[in-house]
Amino acid sequence: MAFIEIDGLTKKYGEAVYALRSFSLEVEKGEWLAVMGPSGSGKSTLLNILGCLDSPTEGRVVIGGEKLARLGPADLARFRAEKVGFIFQQFHLVPYLTALENVMLAQYFHSLAEEQEAAEALRRVGLGERLHHLPSQLSGGEQQRVCVARALINQPNLILADEPTGNLDEMNETIVMGLFTELHREGHTIVMVTHDPEIGRMAERRIELHHGRLADISVFPAREEELIDNLLKAVWHVQEDTGKTVLTVEAVPEFAPNRATFLLMAQEELIRLDGGSLALTAHGGPRAREIIRGTASPRGSSSIPLAWNLTCSTPTPAASSTRSARKSPKSSASS
Ligand SMILES: Nc1ncnc2c1ncn2[C@@H]1O[C@H](COP(=O)(O)OP(=O)(O)O)[C@@H](O)[C@H]1O
Ligand SMILES: [Mg+2]
Repeated sequence: MAFIEIDGLTKKYGEAVYALRSFSLEVEKGEWLAVMGPSGSGKSTLLNILGCLDSPTEGRVVIGGEKLARLGPADLARFRAEKVGFIFQQFHLVPYLTALENVMLAQYFHSLAEEQEAAEALRRVGLGERLHHLPSQLSGGEQQRVCVARALINQPNLILADEPTGNLDEMNETIVMGLFTELHREGHTIVMVTHDPEIGRMAERRIELHHGRLADISVFPAREEELIDNLLKAVWHVQEDTGKTVLTVEAVPEFAPNRATFLLMAQEELIRLDGGSLALTAHGGPRAREIIRGTASPRGSSSIPLAWNLTCSTPTPAASSTRSARKSPKSSASS
């Protein structure tokens, strides 16, 4: 049984507006899902229903074994406070309360330790020095970090985020996305609405909504394959130009504007990212060579024959490409 099971979800406003239409989806525990799609496609409606801020017209939602429709008002409030952490684009902080008080306000289990716990949550997001500041005395990025602390205070299983970086500059976006990466690594299940493809790529899986329906489920959409191929090619050329197999990220001009894709390529073990250094793996090296020679198959890395390397006779400066002929791509690059 999946952690989140959504079955035939429909949300109708008035007679004619369908925010969601027979929408079904499963999300596994610990998964990071990005919900994408144009404005008005039903993304916020979906998130609000998952967080019990709204109820469906039809359909069934089960989260962690709890059927949401079966919960009465008191149980819904408990479920929301205990199991779900919300992060919104518009922050929704209480303007006359300090950062610390805003986090404490969300605490469900009130205890003597509450102030220390709230302070600890704020230190975790790098705001240990800002506990007693009002929202108006904090930058947008800092306010959103208060919201992350607030979402985490009850140690929820599920984190729901609606355009969490929508109001942030690039620097703060990177900080907040770094926090999400950490939360994902710790095993939280994350459902994040975003219209930014660069943010969406950081999730494990993306879905796209169109007019309240599921338009696309993809791990690797075709255009992304093309981008990955081009980035592999770019890394290869820098390797050739510099004669080095281990590069700094600054040496690759394509790195900065495509950080999320590079992270994805590291997850796919096409490259190795280690601090500020970047190298092609035993899987990515041959792939890059294949692309440059124009013999790459269009369906992406998973379809590269394992014996590909044996048929390649051109000497190249690729890093450790000789290993890939003997090992499978997955096992050869996992070190
Ligand atoms: N409270 C509401 N009353 C009437 N229509 C609504 C309400 N909330 C959302 N809608 C409509 O439902 C559709 C989906 O909205 P929403 O989920 O907010 O989309 P998104 O978050 O993808 O931009 C839109 O057409 C919107 O106008
Ligand atoms: Mg929305």
